[in-house]
Amino acid sequence: MTQSQTWTDEKIAALVEPDRVHRLAYTDQELFDLEMERIFEKLWIYIGHESQVKEPGDYYLARVGRQPMVMTRDGKGEIHVLYNRCPHRGAQLCTARAGNAGKHLRCSYHAWTFNLDGRIDAIPAINGYDGTRFDKNDPLFHIKKAPRADNYRGFWFASLAEDGPGLEEHLGQAKIALDQLIDRAPGKECEVVGDCFQMVQQSNWKIFLENQIDVSHPGATHESTGYAAMTVEEDMKAAGETPPLEYGFLTDFKRIGIDGWDKFGTTGHPQGHTTLEGYMGLRPDDPDTNEYVRLMYDAYGETKAEEILGVDMHHVLLYPCNSVQPPLQQLRTIRPLAPNKTLTEIWQFRLKDAPEAIYRRSLGYYYLVNSPSTMVNADDLFNWWKCQNGLTSDGGDWISLHRNAGQDLPPDDHGIVHSAPASMSELPLRHMMQVWKDYMTNGHAKVGG
Ligand code: FES
Ligand SMILES: [Fe+2]
Repeated sequence: MTQSQTWTDEKIAALVEPDRVHRLAYTDQELFDLEMERIFEKLWIYIGHESQVKEPGDYYLARVGRQPMVMTRDGKGEIHVLYNRCPHRGAQLCTARAGNAGKHLRCSYHAWTFNLDGRIDAIPAINGYDGTRFDKNDPLFHIKKAPRADNYRGFWFASLAEDGPGLEEHLGQAKIALDQLIDRAPGKECEVVGDCFQMVQQSNWKIFLENQIDVSHPGATHESTGYAAMTVEEDMKAAGETPPLEYGFLTDFKRIGIDGWDKFGTTGHPQGHTTLEGYMGLRPDDPDTNEYVRLMYDAYGETKAEEILGVDMHHVLLYPCNSVQPPLQQLRTIRPLAPNKTLTEIWQFRLKDAPEAIYRRSLGYYYLVNSPSTMVNADDLFNWWKCQNGLTSDGGDWISLHRNAGQDLPPDDHGIVHSAPASMSELPLRHMMQVWKDYMTNGHAKVGG
């Protein structure tokens, strides 16, 4: 771990108190660089789903901290995560976000070619290297691999640290988010739909994570959207039409009200993951849902199918980089670019063998709530940008996280803390910052509680 002259462990720790956080955690460039080193280039970071590289030769680019990486599938069907850098003179190997490289990755500069697992294959006029220190067997002349790459049921992650907890240990109980993305499919598989949306937010990466699990904001921030959708719904009903079920994704913001969010519990896991219980009625009594449930019963049997469908979790944040909404088949990944700049990838998944209408319904959520062009997202983005601007000013040094501070429930058997009952506790926000302090100072979180 690099020692910082400015940011000693003591100074970093002083930024995070039990109920408030210093603004520099969101604005300081040097702290951001330390975050990249101690969090993003160390923990397990999401690369992509195996269905993004379906065929041999397929590749897909990803960013881990400050490092440009590429996920490839080789001729044997195996997946690799490599640095996107040629070992000759350093050229980036792939520039398109995704594609098929054929049997080899070929550098466009001097035509060195590599196998899809990164091993060097051939160099033009190789006799020029006779009698030099060049050695084809030396890993220095192969594309460097991520020190660790692993998958959980087809979801690939990489860690740029040689050691540390394994992927499953890091995911802990929060792996249910990924289980749900798969298990909700009658065909017991899921796959990405097309490409993702990409969006650059003019705000710190932590602001994005905090917002996803901040139950005191939807009734305020999204009230106008909820109101507009409700008006359209009422107009349609008055005209004898049936409003699409998807409108409920928006009207809930108005229907629940600004202080009605105290019904939905939140948690914080020892690795930093957080969850928010479900609040949407995702099992309406309509023919499409009933057909879907029937297919699930056929696939799993009634007991198991009910167990899977009974998990009512609206949001799971896999620290530090994913926001997963399992019942809606959505997964977002964040790639921090600067203290005030964050790229998000917004993915949609399809459940194998589920009725088309169920896919269309989740696509409705993708378009109405998570896509860059929705009113919901626009209101969130505007708030995050305003927060970043305010935090950069001298108008105050602290961010308040006092709501229900000191009233949350003690850790359960898994080391998971739960929000105070019937509250809109800021537990997950406090929790993520406590874990942030651990990762930034000790180099590890208290995995296992
Ligand atoms: S930089 Fe890649 S072959 Fe020369
Ligand atoms: Fe929001």
